[in-house]
Amino acid sequence: MSFDVKWEEKVYKKKKQINNYPFDWVVSSVSKYISKNKKNVAVELGCGTGNNLEFLSSYGYSKIIGVDGSKSAIQYSKKKLKKNKKIILIQADFSHTFFENVDLFLDRGSVTHNSKKNIKKIFKNILSQLNSGGFFMSSLFSQKHDGFKDKKGKNFFAKELKIKNGVVASFFVEEEIRSLFEEFNIISLTEVINHDKITNKRTSMWNIVCKKN
Ligand SMILES: C[S@@+](CC[C@H](N)C(=O)[O-])C[C@H]1O[C@@H](n2cnc3c(N)ncnc32)[C@H](O)[C@@H]1O
Repeated sequence: MSFDVKWEEKVYKKKKQINNYPFDWVVSSVSKYISKNKKNVAVELGCGTGNNLEFLSSYGYSKIIGVDGSKSAIQYSKKKLKKNKKIILIQADFSHTFFENVDLFLDRGSVTHNSKKNIKKIFKNILSQLNSGGFFMSSLFSQKHDGFKDKKGKNFFAKELKIKNGVVASFFVEEEIRSLFEEFNIISLTEVINHDKITNKRTSMWNIVCKKN
């Protein structure tokens, strides 16, 4: 079991983190690297409330599958996206799912909410399920993120999400990122640091676009 049930019990069930718009990094990366030609399946791992799926559905994929461990998030997305017949929503722990004919795996800040040990396994599975020439776009926490305060690996985002002991999260340095993606062909690797000089808050993500040869 990799999925942290607090996402269901303390977040989505309480109607928190309802994201309704696609993330800017998803919009810019998909529009930069993906053509609108006919393609097979796209899978978003940890689709939350389905905010990135509708956008993906305009990129020529025959099917767009959104997977999330949270029942409430999937119910919310199903209701919102019911008119779009290309989108399929599945409640599951994505460390145990298997998909065929995948031309794109998208991970916008979801896999990083698992332990490092599980992340390694999830990446192996992604590589085995992805078609040759297929893309994997992933956004993982950098250790420069404010959330990386308790180095004992506890209480991540407890304050922000108002959850006792926080949620599972893994934060990476560049060497670890390069090693995680060593079997992929990395096209772009950026460490994005957003430092608000007024609030002094800092977020930081590794954004990776890669392909399977
Ligand atoms: C920070 S949210 C990101 C949601 C969405 N991708 C977005 O861009 O707004 C992380 C999501 O990953 C899901 N998640 C994390 N680990 C998971 C796992 N092992 N299996 C299924 N879902 C998982 C959580 O339920 C949550 O919806």
